[in-house]
Amino acid sequence: MFAAFMLFQYQSYLQQQLDSLKENGQYRYFLNVNKSARHFPVFYYEKNGEAKRAVNFCSNDYLGMSVEEEVINKLSFVLHQSGTGSGGTRNISGTTQYHQWLEHTIAQWHQQEAALIFGGAYLANLTALQTLGRKIPDLVFVSDERNHASIIEGIRSAGNEKKIFQHNDTKHLEQILSSLPLQQPKLVVFESVYSMNGSVAPVKQIIRLAKRYNALTYVDEVHAVGLYGARGAGICEQDNLLKQIDIINGTLAKAVGVIGGYIAASQTIIDFIRSFGSGFIFTTSLPPAVCAGAEKSIRMIQRDASLRTSVFGLVDSLRRMLDEASISYTKNNSHITPVLLKDAVKCKQIADELLEKYGVYVQPVNYPTVPVGEECLRLIVTAKHTREQITHLVNSLKNVLIEERTHYMQAEQAEFITG
Ligand SMILES: Cc1ncc(COP(=O)(O)O)c(C=O)c1O
Repeated sequence: MFAAFMLFQYQSYLQQQLDSLKENGQYRYFLNVNKSARHFPVFYYEKNGEAKRAVNFCSNDYLGMSVEEEVINKLSFVLHQSGTGSGGTRNISGTTQYHQWLEHTIAQWHQQEAALIFGGAYLANLTALQTLGRKIPDLVFVSDERNHASIIEGIRSAGNEKKIFQHNDTKHLEQILSSLPLQQPKLVVFESVYSMNGSVAPVKQIIRLAKRYNALTYVDEVHAVGLYGARGAGICEQDNLLKQIDIINGTLAKAVGVIGGYIAASQTIIDFIRSFGSGFIFTTSLPPAVCAGAEKSIRMIQRDASLRTSVFGLVDSLRRMLDEASISYTKNNSHITPVLLKDAVKCKQIADELLEKYGVYVQPVNYPTVPVGEECLRLIVTAKHTREQITHLVNSLKNVLIEERTHYMQAEQAEFITG
């Protein structure tokens, strides 16, 4: 029993948690990145009443599709035709031809029988995994340790048994799969391109193992769609595995440049999630114009490889310039270039300096997005960056890192002298 004088102090309890985030350098400050359709990746922000201009090096709009004229035109045309919101859940007046066309296009893109769209890929992961887990009670989730928060939440909320394999470690995955009875239902869940360290999963080996032990496979291709494969359908397309993977999750918000997420799979799996998935059934559907814009963007991505080719050319240039400047970064086979700083406070200080002194915007990536000790600056170049902008990024980063090192050495020296 709590006495009256011990009443729970809601506000101060929550404030304490926020204060400790601030002390650890993990508190999140949002910058108003006032995006420009004409000048992307340049944007505008305000500091102390003064208008400032900077270049964005952390956007997931990898191909710059959000500013493509054809996508904007399609979206605004349908916006005027159909209005803003859909006004209903998919079941209660919220399905239009644009929803169906988009699902059809996504299914074809991934060479699957069907697809289902959601408000975002987070919701798609959460709903698909939760629904499969709840409806197949003996299902064991076998999940990569670096999986995204939406996958972790989906698995957790299903409440099934789960086994975690070490990141991209197929030996460990096989140990786990072989320890489970062959007849036990299992779902191997992983990402193709990991968003923060940029590592690429050994998708072929994972699928081979899953088949050997009679497990279903679920891949999150959120950071791969638009960029990999002949028609930009992701790593499964690039590695010729589209016919072998069971469920693909993707987003319409990153390389596709609009908003929304999806899963693509067999007709039965899609019908199952459509029929039982709470996060699909009980929420208003995407606006028709958004579906039309996203579909237009996918069709452009499919037919024209030039944007993704230029991203990889620019990533190569960035890495060559970083090497020349002796700035180390995590090596990987993807388009994501993390500069590891291993310290949340240092990460934020460097990012602040880059923005204020050089007009370079790189968001520091801290816990819980990455584990403590893996804080980094995640450098992203899009199809719309110029080589001059990338040169400016590398020169600025070099200067800030030198200043930071000098400052650190001076502080150490002062400490040594005084004490
Ligand atoms: C790996 C991964 N999966 C899923 C998501 C969620 O995607 P969305 O922004 O479409 O909800 C993200 C998001 O940022 C992600 O990095």
